[in-house]
Amino acid sequence: MAEAITGLQLRSLIKASGELEVALVPVEIPEPGPDEVVVRVEATPINPSDLGLLFGAADMSTARQTGTPDAPVITAKVPEAAMKAMAGRLDQPMPVGNEGAGTVIKAGSSEAAQALQGKLVAVLGGAMYAQYRVINVNFCMPLPDGATAADGASSFVNPLTALGMTETMRREGHTALVHTAAASNLGQMLNRICIKDGVALVNIVRSEGQARLLRDIGAEHIVDSTSPDFMSELTKALEITGATLAFDAIGGGRLAGQILSCMEAAIIRKSKGAYSRYGSDVPKQVYIYGGLDLRPTEIVRNFGMTWGVGGWLLMPFLQKIGPEAGAKLRARVAAELKTTFASSYTRVVSLKEALSLESIATYNKRATGEKFLIDPSR
Ligand SMILES: NC(=O)c1ccc[n+]([C@@H]2O[C@H](COP(=O)([O-])OP(=O)(O)OC[C@H]3O[C@@H](n4cnc5c(N)ncnc54)[C@H](OP(=O)(O)O)[C@@H]3O)[C@@H](O)[C@H]2O)c1
Repeated sequence: MAEAITGLQLRSLIKASGELEVALVPVEIPEPGPDEVVVRVEATPINPSDLGLLFGAADMSTARQTGTPDAPVITAKVPEAAMKAMAGRLDQPMPVGNEGAGTVIKAGSSEAAQALQGKLVAVLGGAMYAQYRVINVNFCMPLPDGATAADGASSFVNPLTALGMTETMRREGHTALVHTAAASNLGQMLNRICIKDGVALVNIVRSEGQARLLRDIGAEHIVDSTSPDFMSELTKALEITGATLAFDAIGGGRLAGQILSCMEAAIIRKSKGAYSRYGSDVPKQVYIYGGLDLRPTEIVRNFGMTWGVGGWLLMPFLQKIGPEAGAKLRARVAAELKTTFASSYTRVVSLKEALSLESIATYNKRATGEKFLIDPSR
């Protein structure tokens, strides 16, 4: 009989009593089924969407470290007002980590699983903050020759979301894009895609450092939301590019509405048609695809009646476009993994180090260029 493997898995628990508890738990790794493989996880990023599950609505300024140096436990208080939003996960320890990469150390009996034996693969499947992950081969992508686990760690979420933006643009009849929090890891990928594909992109940032970063990778249209002339600068960029579709990672506050106002102003300035009190008839859309600012979204409707604000999420998008179109996007990611879709990380930490208060204080800021990578094999 094959020897059973045990590995650590990170679990996040929110108790009905209003306390968050994050710990490393030893779990026995089952034998892989015919179409499954066991991956030794060697690189898994800490992305904003992972943080949402990892710490939930806990107030991390109350975080404490307990347990032992070998088995750290992080606890924090969840404010009472936020507990309602946590109702669906109370008292259930949840594994975390959307994606990652590592080596296949055991493979099931099917041909597809056997073909991956010993290979380095990228994995999308959740529960990646663990030393080992048993996963169906359909959720694995063999990494191209020469790529390391770190190169492949972010092969799915940000690359496919960035590609999903240009794909949505084409499918919904728009010709150029607006993007917010635009110096993010994802925003840098989106710039490289748009430059390569000849798509005009208006980048909204909030500091000169972020503007510089994007200029250095070749971005042409950059607007700083902290500028006193933000609205007129954004309108000008929208007039030049004709962008009528925006992807907003921030979500809270007035930005989504301001983008629609500036789109309408740019359209009216360019149009030669008769005045209509219902505004222009050009469709304007903002998709909120992140929640970097958790305040309510405030929309002052001064842009006519032809507009929409909605949510956008990768998985439903992939389901909508179907397996064939999704496979094309994945093939592009694999082919351009080390160029268009390269991610950078400030620090590589072990699972234990990821649970130090000092690490948490840094990666939980979700700041530009401060992304962490966990190497659970350390
Ligand atoms: N919907 C989906 O399917 C989907 C999929 C993938 C990613 N996402 C979203 O995409 C976004 C970017 O992800 P990423 O991994 O690329 O992030 P990242 O590299 O960690 O960068 C986050 C960026 O957001 C900025 N930021 C943080 N808080 C902000 C705020 N309140 N207002 C304005 N800017 C703020 C940071 O700038 P500073 O340095 O100025 O703080 C930084 O540039 C996230 O919101 C994530 O949730 C969504």
